[in-house]
Amino acid sequence: MPEGWVWDETLYRGSAPYYARGRPPYAPGLADRLAALIPFADGSRLLDVGCGPGILTLPLAPHVAEAVGVDPDPGMLAEAARRATVAGVANARWVQARAEVLPAGLGRFRAATFGQSFHWMDRERVAAAVRRLLEPGGAFVLVADAKEPRADPGDPDLPHPEPPYEAIRGLIREWLGPVPRAGQGLLRHGTPDGEAAVLAAAGFAAPERLRLPAGGVWVRTEDEVVAWVWSLAGSAPHLFGERLGAFEVELRGLLRDVSPAGRFADRPPDTEVRMWRSPG
Ligand SMILES: C[S@@+](CC[C@H](N)C(=O)[O-])C[C@H]1O[C@@H](n2cnc3c(N)ncnc32)[C@H](O)[C@@H]1O
Repeated sequence: MPEGWVWDETLYRGSAPYYARGRPPYAPGLADRLAALIPFADGSRLLDVGCGPGILTLPLAPHVAEAVGVDPDPGMLAEAARRATVAGVANARWVQARAEVLPAGLGRFRAATFGQSFHWMDRERVAAAVRRLLEPGGAFVLVADAKEPRADPGDPDLPHPEPPYEAIRGLIREWLGPVPRAGQGLLRHGTPDGEAAVLAAAGFAAPERLRLPAGGVWVRTEDEVVAWVWSLAGSAPHLFGERLGAFEVELRGLLRDVSPAGRFADRPPDTEVRMWRSPG
């Protein structure tokens, strides 16, 4: 959990409908690579913890007998269920819970995935609890966007301007204050790293690592860039309260200054995977 920050259920309030179309996609082929690495067998089950709108759950579901997505945010789960129906995924179910207080009777899993969610949790507690739910040799998997800057800022081959990230962050600071917000609290010290030590303390051995290269150019509409802003905990819709519409007008003005045609292009980040095996 971030230092000096207390979790509350407003963390992603209002973000869910924007999340899947706002966030950069994970690297192409991620689900197949994960499935081969884990690997799944007949009857294997998946637990996707902090599943959001099913970003990892849905592409992994065809590889397992059952996928269980867990998230405390009811909006995220409603969106996950809606997207499952659209995608024709019938073997996923959705459980509203914090990872720290998983309900009894979930059963055992071949793998537990955490897509950019572990840093919001009481990691020591969750690692220990999830270890008990994994089959021997089962996989504890962290998936994240690579944090390092991409190799080619200001890429001359992009067909449209890049979203003005710095100006957007500046506008969010202007409206919400200089210290990043998250739920009802402030993220004074960012979000934690050091996952290897947390997993080691829970009895997992050293991780296997995989970095999957991003897909090609990512073209986005103005609406999709706005959706990216709403998808972030630090600028989730609830944080603006009644000023949400006024903020959106300014945000769109900023975007139109950069791209009057309302088209942006970018290169999504690589995807990083770290996988620990349960000793049983
Ligand atoms: C950044 S989103 C990630 C969504 C998806 N897993 C992905 O890969 O894009 C983080 C998700 O973690 C969930 N989350 C935050 N704190 C949590 C906790 N303590 N237990 C379970 N899920 C949590 C949030 O509700 C949110 O849906």
